[in-house]
Amino acid sequence: MRILVTGGAGYIGTHTCLVLQQAGHDVAVLDNLANSKREGLTRVEALSGRPLGFYHVDLLDPPEVDRVFREFAPEAVLHFAALKAVGESVQFPAKYYQNNVTGTLNLCAAMDRHAVRTLVFSSSATVYGAPEEIPIREEAPLRATNPYGWSKVMMELILTDLHRADPTWRLSVLRYFNPVGAHQSGTIGEDPTGIPNNLFPYVTQVAVGKLDNLQIFGGDYPTADGTGIRDYIHVVDLAEGHLRALERLDPNGGHQIYNLGTGRGYSVLDVVRAFERIVGRAIPYEIVDRRSGDVAECYADPGRARTALQWEAGRDLDQMCEDAWRWQSQNPSGYA
Ligand code: NAD
Ligand code: UFG
Repeated sequence: MRILVTGGAGYIGTHTCLVLQQAGHDVAVLDNLANSKREGLTRVEALSGRPLGFYHVDLLDPPEVDRVFREFAPEAVLHFAALKAVGESVQFPAKYYQNNVTGTLNLCAAMDRHAVRTLVFSSSATVYGAPEEIPIREEAPLRATNPYGWSKVMMELILTDLHRADPTWRLSVLRYFNPVGAHQSGTIGEDPTGIPNNLFPYVTQVAVGKLDNLQIFGGDYPTADGTGIRDYIHVVDLAEGHLRALERLDPNGGHQIYNLGTGRGYSVLDVVRAFERIVGRAIPYEIVDRRSGDVAECYADPGRARTALQWEAGRDLDQMCEDAWRWQSQNPSGYA
């Protein structure tokens, strides 16, 4: 199949492009490189041994998006392109709504014009806000706690209505929990700009000596060790989930929503201990105040994806840490 991957130069996109190519698909990437580098795609090509189409295009530029559809003529789209920094979205909400929501509207309009109505969409567990019940099921109410999260809720609603209006759309909405780790080769991985916001890249940068110590946000949560619990999922498991979601779309149209997580929660201290075992030395940390907007505990009920997609995240916490560490230690400055 000819598959267009928006945001394919980014962290999850590069891993998914590789999985798609390895499954024999023809892949092209549309990315404005706002948060990624071309080098990631060069490395995907080296790993797969196959060329990858690349369009340096912004979804906010409809004529250019049209050109991509004319030239590449995709049969399906995987839509990763979005801005994703929670704190920045609070500071610049209009930028986030414009990029994420308008970008998605432009993409859907181009898809409709070119009669490509097969889409796998990157959503997030952020659409559950502070969940009332754990593990979280797909039926849980949607609400967010910041503009980034609301942009995901809005994009999901737009897709729901598109399918209502034209049931020939084939849509799979994937709500990721906490994607971490890297490809086992250590050649592609997460390359955050500046000081990382997320736990895994922060810990690996402490371990490699780029940052002095980890600040653990809150030691007084109602959890076993007092630190926050999340459902970390290996990025290659996540990438394989996209392939499966694409393969399982109903040829006659449909709209499915799946949690992609492991169903297992680990605390911040569990993650620190796992890294210490793998790196072979202590990770210096201090426990500081809670980060505003964080919840105590968040993990998926992954049952629907298991049943309907016959997909399960198989890689465990040690493998997530090992692969994250291999990537960080082999590429201390990321793709630079
Ligand atoms: P990323 O920033 O590494 O990748 C996103 C890519 O989209 C980047 O390469 C960026 O340059 C590109 N992009 C952004 N705006 C664009 C635009 N207007 N036009 C063209 N390209 C554009 O992020 P990621 O971690 O790979 O996330 C991929 C998707 O998954 C995003 O939609 C994100 O919201 C979602 N998601 C990520 C996480 C996570 O923790 N990483 C969790 C849940 C959901
Ligand atoms: N944490 C620290 N110190 C840090 C960074 C994080 O203690 O320096 C803690 C957090 O408080 C939390 C856990 O580590 O308990 C995980 O935090 P992350 O920032 O790695 O991930 P979040 O669960 O906060 O959020 C991530 C993405 C969101 C997405 C959400 C659900 O950043 O965009 O997962 O998918 F919405």
